[in-house]
Amino acid sequence: MSIERTLVIIKPDAVDRRLTGKIIDRFLAKGLDVVAMKMKRLEADTVQKHYEVHKGRDFYGDLLEFMLSGPVILMVLEGKEAVQVVRVLLGPTDAAQASPGTIRGDWGLSTRYNLVHASDSLGSAQKEIDLFFQDSEICDVHEQDRRWILAKKNDEWI
Ligand code: CMP
Repeated sequence: MSIERTLVIIKPDAVDRRLTGKIIDRFLAKGLDVVAMKMKRLEADTVQKHYEVHKGRDFYGDLLEFMLSGPVILMVLEGKEAVQVVRVLLGPTDAAQASPGTIRGDWGLSTRYNLVHASDSLGSAQKEIDLFFQDSEICDVHEQDRRWILAKKNDEWI
């Protein structure tokens, strides 16, 4: 299976609740690599682009307001099947439905204030990474760095 990159946003609720360290630790402990990370206040036009697919939904305005209400942490995570693996670590969008052991299941109850965003497909991951990061801001992972995380067989990570 292939090594993928995915975009993660630790949202203003999680930053404000000082959950950042615990959340990042979940990704690292799973074996994913943080290959880019920055904290910032997002700009309105960037958030609009990012959530364009939800334009017209009844929650769209409130979602924009929420995402602009405080700083966020933007990250690019890399690892085996990273897109799907991160979505599983988060749990479903409605945190009230999320199982214990997931990030939303352990620390959330809300659909809007659901702590973390992660790309939902490889295609959106590429678009979202390009929206928030320059290529020069993304670091390389060396094969040696994942020697106890993944094995390699016939040139494939297993
Ligand atoms: P996210 O994974 O960032 O993708 C879109 C976001 O919109 C979602 O997390 C929630 O924060 C928010 N969202 C999705 N559905 C609803 C809803 N029904 N009511 C309020 N907010 C929602």
